[in-house]
Amino acid sequence: DKANYRHFMAKEIHEQPEVVGHTLAHYVDMATEKVAMPVKLPFDFKDIQRLSITACGTASYAGFVAKYWFERLARLPVELDVASEFRYREAPLRKGDLAIFISQSGETADTLAALRYAKSQGLHTISVVNVPTSTIARESETALPTLAGPEIGVASTKAFTCQLAALAAIAIAAGRARGELSETDETKLVHGLIEVPRLMTEALALEPQIEKLARDIAKSQDVLYLGRGTNYPLALEGALKLKEISYIHAEGYAAGELKHGPIALIDEKMPVVVIAPYDRVFEKTVSNMQEVAARGGRIILMTDAQGAREATVDSLVTIILPDMPATVTPLVYAIPVQLLAYHTAVVMGTDVDQPRNLAKSVTVE
Ligand code: F6R
Repeated sequence: DKANYRHFMAKEIHEQPEVVGHTLAHYVDMATEKVAMPVKLPFDFKDIQRLSITACGTASYAGFVAKYWFERLARLPVELDVASEFRYREAPLRKGDLAIFISQSGETADTLAALRYAKSQGLHTISVVNVPTSTIARESETALPTLAGPEIGVASTKAFTCQLAALAAIAIAAGRARGELSETDETKLVHGLIEVPRLMTEALALEPQIEKLARDIAKSQDVLYLGRGTNYPLALEGALKLKEISYIHAEGYAAGELKHGPIALIDEKMPVVVIAPYDRVFEKTVSNMQEVAARGGRIILMTDAQGAREATVDSLVTIILPDMPATVTPLVYAIPVQLLAYHTAVVMGTDVDQPRNLAKSVTVE
């Protein structure tokens, strides 16, 4: 039931503070601010030399964010694949290493095939799944749940942020086990995660501003999304979300790649959504935005108060989010990204919950 919302997607976007809170409560101890895995893992993170993360679509972008986390927090090298490629590219895998599979439905055929392949190669397997009775959950060595509740809208929203919440906790656990994070680091990181539901509620309050912006986006033929670091995968997710429900063509790029090609597309007609909280690479993103502005491109900047002050760029609309630790930005910035796609689709009059040609669960390879 859609409660008082016009679409399931809107309801599911708004449920995120609650379901991300539930998911976090499953992985961290709120009182001590330490990671608390729901099950004992059948391996030691110290013995893992390489982590392979595999998924499809939006789940693969959650995996892409997690790659940054595992590498930075646990110094664990990560290979990320879309499942349709992982299964067939004959990657050299080391017996005893770990593979993580991420899937909302737990029934995605390519992801399942990749899981079976990893098992046949003697890897430990973890699935991060939203449906605990699913095939992928049953066939993986360890199934770790997201507690998003049923996701009805075909475009994934709350499952994505719950995947991020679970993966962040697993990355912190890995960092601790590998001796890369101190107890104080752990507490700081977990504290940041616990703040996410509140930060998401604040981000949801930006909806009226985003709704207005969507009317403008709806007039465009193409939209570019840029981000750096963990917000680069979020740029990919923003572009996917927009194209699948509004049918407006969109591309996500690492902001630094702009001048290696996509800048040729920029003109007055192309909005550029820049996802850039103020951080150590912000200055570099400002120069990318100046390049866009110099070519007449219109910029929508999702940032924080400091970012808004430091962004010395013309023709800029800023969406200002609260301050937060860098680690959690992809979870919270997902909200304005999803709302922008949603409201653009509503303006376009598309079937938001059942976009054409798409199925909620893709059970053929
Ligand atoms: C996009 C979307 C898809 C799914 C993908 C994987 O909004 O929903 O890209 O993320 O088909 O599905 P699951 O997570 O069920 O394996």
